[in-house]
Amino acid sequence: MRTIDWVPAEGQSPGHIRLVDQKLLPGTLSEVDVHSVEQLIDAIQDLSVRGAPALGVAGALGVALAAQNLSADSAREVIAKLRAARPTAVNLAWGVDAALAAFDEGGPEAALVAALKVRDDDIAACEAMAERGTELLSRLLPDRPRLNVMTICNTGALAAIEHGTALGVVEKLHHDGRLALAVACETRPLLQGARLTAWELKRMGADYRVIVDSAAASVLARGGADVVMVGADRIAANGDTANKIGTFALALAAAHAGVPFLVVAPESTIDPDTADGGAIEIEDRGSEEVCSFAGVRTTPEGTAALNPAFDVTPAGLITAIVTDTRVIDLGASQVPAHPTEAA
Ligand code: MRU
Repeated sequence: MRTIDWVPAEGQSPGHIRLVDQKLLPGTLSEVDVHSVEQLIDAIQDLSVRGAPALGVAGALGVALAAQNLSADSAREVIAKLRAARPTAVNLAWGVDAALAAFDEGGPEAALVAALKVRDDDIAACEAMAERGTELLSRLLPDRPRLNVMTICNTGALAAIEHGTALGVVEKLHHDGRLALAVACETRPLLQGARLTAWELKRMGADYRVIVDSAAASVLARGGADVVMVGADRIAANGDTANKIGTFALALAAAHAGVPFLVVAPESTIDPDTADGGAIEIEDRGSEEVCSFAGVRTTPEGTAALNPAFDVTPAGLITAIVTDTRVIDLGASQVPAHPTEAA
């Protein structure tokens, strides 16, 4: 099953989008059929579909859907809303732009061909990142035949199409017999780590533990992970990297512990038009997700929250960025390791 895909036209039924409803995981694995761009925008905003590469494919398929169903003017109007549905992951706008350029050149059929290419390229990119990432780990940690890997949020197949980015590397380590333990940060407030990454690790048959986000620094300082691997929503031209809130704290903790910190993301997540992390728009998702849990209020009535969905890890804290075509060495291994916490 793919996280998001195009269902071709059949008989009288026009083509449409089908996606796994990630809100329902880990309890229920079910798919939703999406017949309009408005419905797709809702699915993006309520995180039924999420993760930067999957958002890129959603954007491209959304253009194909609009082009198929609407007049050119109406399509353009709704495509602009789709492009802005979530601001931080550059892949969404990138996927929209790729299919829109094809639409401008060759109409609805060209838009669909371009959207399917975005989908297929993502599948190939994730396979390439898994290869490159595992090779890099062999070079960085030659004396560790089996690795403990810490990660945050969900960067697996659910965040892409068939295989993930950082979790795609973890999956390959597992298949190669090189994964000792995956440590998944739960990822407050929406629990992408506890709900989705744990679900994927369980399906893989990998050995894993979930930790509360605030345990990460201590687990790292006590030698609980050999490497931290995360995904990215937007990588600025200088290497500053936006990813799920908590990633920056994880990078600081990795530097303190002297543990390599790797970002694994496709080239499409690199945004040369954004000079540095300060220019990245950070989505604020409002108070409700923080002030209640599973529908039960956990804060006093009237309490407001700050809820930035992402943070920016400065390039100086990143050891390397692994993409589908290269390894960008940022040299954060130079960050001096602080003495390990007393065990
Ligand atoms: O809010 P989300 O769940 O869309 O956030 C996702 C992340 O932060 C991922 O780490 C990132 O998109 C990379 S996914 C391969």
